[in-house]
Amino acid sequence: MVHRVLGVPVICLTVLLLPLLLEGVDILDAGEVVYHETRTDGVVERGVILECGPILPDVYIWGFTEPGTDTIRAVVYNFGKGPKLQKLAKDLGDLSVITNTASLSIEKLPLAAEGVYTCQALYDTAEGARLYYYYVYLRVLVPVTKPYILMSDSSPIEGTVVTMRCGLENGTGPINYVWEQETREGQLTTMAEINDNNLFNVTEVTRNHTGWYRCVASNKVNQQRSDRIWLDIIFGPDLPQIDVTPYSVTERGYSALERETVSLLCQASSNPPSQYVWFYNNSQVFTGPQFTITRVLRMHTGHYACLAQNTYLNTRSKKTITLTVYYPPDGAPSCSILPANNYNDLALRCTWEGGIPGASLKWTPYVFGNGSEGITNITRIQKGQETANNSVFLCQGSHVAQNEIKSCSVRAWMPYGEPQCSAYATRNNEYLMLSCSWEGGFPRALLWWASSSGDIQGTSEENANILVLQSSATYSGKAFVCYARHPLAKTIKQCVLKLEAPVLITQRSVMSVYEGSDVQLTCILSKNYPITEITWYNNQKQHVLSIPKKYALDRAAAWTNLTVRETDSETDSGQYWCSATNAVGGAEIPITLMVKRYPMPPNVTISKIIYNSRQRTDVDLEWLPQNEGELTGFFIERQRLPLPPKKRSGDPPWEKLVNLEPDARNYQIKNLDPTGTYAIRITAVNHRTIGNPSDIKSPADPPFNAYPAVIGAAIGGMIIATIATVLLFMYVVRNRNNNPRLHDLIFGRQNSQSRENINFPEDEVVEGSDGEKHAGEPGTSAAQGPSMALPRPTATPTNLPPGEEPVNVTITVMASS
Ligand SMILES: *[C@@H]1O[C@H](CO)[C@@H](O)[C@H](O)[C@H]1NC(C)=O
Ligand SMILES: *[C@@H]1O[C@H](CO)[C@@H](O)[C@H](O)[C@H]1NC(C)=O
Ligand SMILES: *[C@@H]1O[C@H](CO)[C@@H](O)[C@H](O)[C@H]1NC(C)=O
Ligand SMILES: *[C@@H]1O[C@H](CO)[C@@H](O)[C@H](O)[C@H]1NC(C)=O
Ligand SMILES: *[C@@H]1O[C@H](CO)[C@@H](O)[C@H](O)[C@H]1NC(C)=O
Ligand SMILES: *[C@@H]1O[C@H](CO)[C@@H](O)[C@H](O)[C@H]1NC(C)=O
Ligand SMILES: *[C@@H]1O[C@H](CO)[C@@H](O)[C@H](O)[C@H]1NC(C)=O
Repeated sequence: MVHRVLGVPVICLTVLLLPLLLEGVDILDAGEVVYHETRTDGVVERGVILECGPILPDVYIWGFTEPGTDTIRAVVYNFGKGPKLQKLAKDLGDLSVITNTASLSIEKLPLAAEGVYTCQALYDTAEGARLYYYYVYLRVLVPVTKPYILMSDSSPIEGTVVTMRCGLENGTGPINYVWEQETREGQLTTMAEINDNNLFNVTEVTRNHTGWYRCVASNKVNQQRSDRIWLDIIFGPDLPQIDVTPYSVTERGYSALERETVSLLCQASSNPPSQYVWFYNNSQVFTGPQFTITRVLRMHTGHYACLAQNTYLNTRSKKTITLTVYYPPDGAPSCSILPANNYNDLALRCTWEGGIPGASLKWTPYVFGNGSEGITNITRIQKGQETANNSVFLCQGSHVAQNEIKSCSVRAWMPYGEPQCSAYATRNNEYLMLSCSWEGGFPRALLWWASSSGDIQGTSEENANILVLQSSATYSGKAFVCYARHPLAKTIKQCVLKLEAPVLITQRSVMSVYEGSDVQLTCILSKNYPITEITWYNNQKQHVLSIPKKYALDRAAAWTNLTVRETDSETDSGQYWCSATNAVGGAEIPITLMVKRYPMPPNVTISKIIYNSRQRTDVDLEWLPQNEGELTGFFIERQRLPLPPKKRSGDPPWEKLVNLEPDARNYQIKNLDPTGTYAIRITAVNHRTIGNPSDIKSPADPPFNAYPAVIGAAIGGMIIATIATVLLFMYVVRNRNNNPRLHDLIFGRQNSQSRENINFPEDEVVEGSDGEKHAGEPGTSAAQGPSMALPRPTATPTNLPPGEEPVNVTITVMASS
């Protein structure tokens, strides 16, 4: 519309004016017509003045030629009687002639007023009349109206083409368009300035194009600004950005300390805004941008993914991070020392396993080169030569997830003293064991065995080394060396063993002794290794320890004495053996023992044997050795003879009554059964040698004073006693020649030689009836016991006839009680 209004009249006017110009030239030739052209712009609805020369002409005519025509039509004229407006003038706005001029004033200019206005002015001058043609080209301009914006898409997707049009109703061209953007923040930018084209193309919109848009249209007359229009670019989501607080990044990803609060914030640019979903190890754990773990634990380590979604576009993007939860190892580091470089140096090892990341460890004091620090497990070499005994090393462990420093320490020290060697054998000496030990120390010492020629034997061991060898005599006299090495020891230590088979010595290889005494056999072990003991065998080749009552052993380091107790000439004489054996040999030596007997003691004769009262319970016995032989004592035996009817039932046993000193010559036998019949004998002994027993004798009755009691008993007593008494009498009568004393005793004949010199209280009754008392004799008194009796022969012993059995010859006394 603007084009049409402005473009067409220009061309038309030019064409229209040509005849006028030619015509003027013609007039100029005759009367010199002057042509004058001007151009004037008016604005619709406003006023404009069209001038016709500087001074008022005498006659003038205004004509109007419509654009596109060549017809001039009169608008107003003045031939000297005032201006005369034609009808046409009404179509050209409020048209009037300015007083005292020929200029036209048009108010409220209509578009139709556009055209060529021609003022033909005639001036009557002294030189004659002059004609002027004033051509005024009037253009009616239209101001731009308020533009408006049309968009191909007000919510385009990022990357697409957006076309914006600045719409305008009216306005004379050329029109200039300026595109302005106002961001959300209020920042104004001129995006483009385009002449004569109201289209604005954005070939690839970005999110940066989001904002308010205006277009400003302007022409010669004015400029107008449109209302703003919002351009909303749809985009995203972009690749999310994850912020982890507290922020800590390692080569493995994000890290957090156990038990602290960790917040994961996900942001992904998007329009409309993103929807967020969180995943842990591929399982959904949370919806929303910020995922917070209030007390993070080591089990929370893993992959965290944030998924951002644009629900409008149905697009999504995802980002994954790795979160490692740091936690310290349990407990404390552990320290140890190992031997290194063949026991010349120390390897200090410190480990503290567990925990993420690995704990930092550091050895102090720091005496060796670089790199005392390390992670989780470190080993450092410390020169043994440069290390003092009892050096303490400290390993400190620290961890990011723990404030405290934990440490361990270790002390390097040498074993006590020197290595110790010893040898011993297994049971029965089958194997020989060489033991070497160097106890203690940290680290432990290394020990190995070598023969004296230097060959290594067996393996190397720490702390103690036992070399086992098959027992063999070939090792006797050989030496073995145990070597010991410890990193802190400046030199190799050693100890030496020499193996030796036992050697036995005795002081006396023949011993003689009288029987009955103890004897000691001595054996000395002069050298032996491994150490063994002396074993003794008796004359029967029996092990002496199996007969402890007979043998006793006294042992000392170098010797043993075998004591043979109470030697016996028959069983203990002979060859004894002292023997010793170790794993490298054995020895045995004989010792001969001769046990001698003592000579026979003399024969003994019983000089007196008599009941000391009629009670017949005690017997006084006296005896004499027959010659001056050696003797050490006596013993008395008795035999109880059976009653006559029981005779021939075998010999009754001899019963030992008492052992007596060698100087004893008498003895009182007590507590005999008065009704029994006894035989007595006495034997001398010389140590173990027992002499011949004396003659066997039976005690004789005391002198006659026993008789009435016997009689009394016979009268008032038992029938058996009476019969027995009769038998006795018959026997006595029959044997009165053989037993005169018994005969006398029973039949009352007094024998002064048989008178008893002992006066017992119980005998008083008897004595009273007897009426005799033997006072005044030496050594006799009423109070004296039988041991005080003097040994003198008082009774003639009864001699048994040869060939008669004892029963037949022994006096049998029956008494009633
Ligand atoms: C534009 O011009 C037309 C005719 O020339 C007129 O009718 C209309 O009112 C004008 N519009 C404005 C906004 O001036
Ligand atoms: C703008 O884009 C439209 C349609 O895509 C096209 O017709 C027009 O020529 C373009 N204008 C400019 C100035 O690029
Ligand atoms: C948007 O503008 C910013 C800052 O001016 C620029 O860094 C960014 O690259 C722009 N984005 C696009 C998609 O053009
Ligand atoms: C998650 O994944 C990490 C890495 O693969 C793994 O160490 C962790 O044990 C997993 N956690 C669970 C609960 O499966
Ligand atoms: C080294 O120290 C230990 C322990 O204190 C001690 O028993 C040993 O005798 C010492 N050795 C030397 C050679 O000092
Ligand atoms: C062992 O016998 C020897 C020689 O007979 C003797 O010198 C030594 O005292 C005896 N030792 C003992 C404890 O009897
Ligand atoms: C000792 O008595 C025995 C037998 O009783 C006899 O053989 C021996 O000759 C007697 N000795 C002496 C020295 O009378």
